[in-house]
Amino acid sequence: MQGRFITFEGPEGAGKSTQLGLLGEWMKRGGLPVRTTREPGGTALGAGIREILLAPQGGEVSPLAELFLYEADRAQHIQEVIRPALAAGEHVLCDRFFDSTTAYQAYGRGLPAELVEELNARATGGLVPDLTILLDISPSEGLRRARGGVSGDRLEGEGMEFHERVWRGFSEISRNEPGRFRLISAGTVEEVHARILEAVTKEFGWTGESFKARTQP
Ligand code: TMP
Repeated sequence: MQGRFITFEGPEGAGKSTQLGLLGEWMKRGGLPVRTTREPGGTALGAGIREILLAPQGGEVSPLAELFLYEADRAQHIQEVIRPALAAGEHVLCDRFFDSTTAYQAYGRGLPAELVEELNARATGGLVPDLTILLDISPSEGLRRARGGVSGDRLEGEGMEFHERVWRGFSEISRNEPGRFRLISAGTVEEVHARILEAVTKEFGWTGESFKARTQP
């Protein structure tokens, strides 16, 4: 059976990676085959692209060049990792996916929405996540956490207006697709994990007795 494809989205510092890791561990304890990955950087080619994209001294990067780099990363990731894993029956948990491109490159940078949509569709070959977890955190609180007192990467270094536009993007995209998105409100790591578990168990029915027994800590 084809695996489920779950993506994690949100502003900087929302705790996506921590929460993705916790969900992955929980699923593995329950005996589910899981592949965790991220964008950009889920392949060897992507690791190089990620370095280029996030280097703080990257200088002035053209919005179009930036868009193409994220899509190049995604095209490789889809072909090399995501599709084969899903076809093999693994559930894929991905830290950011095409909704980040819509939020950052269309809403944040101001590139035409139709262009971003078209390239997203090309890079993914039409693959859409089964479920998208959107972590709710204000852009200012998220940035404070992400930077943690040190200077961040190139995107984190953008001004607050940019990050406000990105968050408005995520809010609008999620409102337009309520069937796919689950908005998870902020809280402690444990509270957020519990809300995510509630969302995924409800969606995929991973709550059978045998599954429950195996996921007891
Ligand atoms: P991360 O550090 O949360 O993994 O994300 C890397 C940065 O790249 C983050 O600032 C969001 C940004 N990004 C985009 O601008 N567009 C995209 O399509 C993706 C996947 C990430």
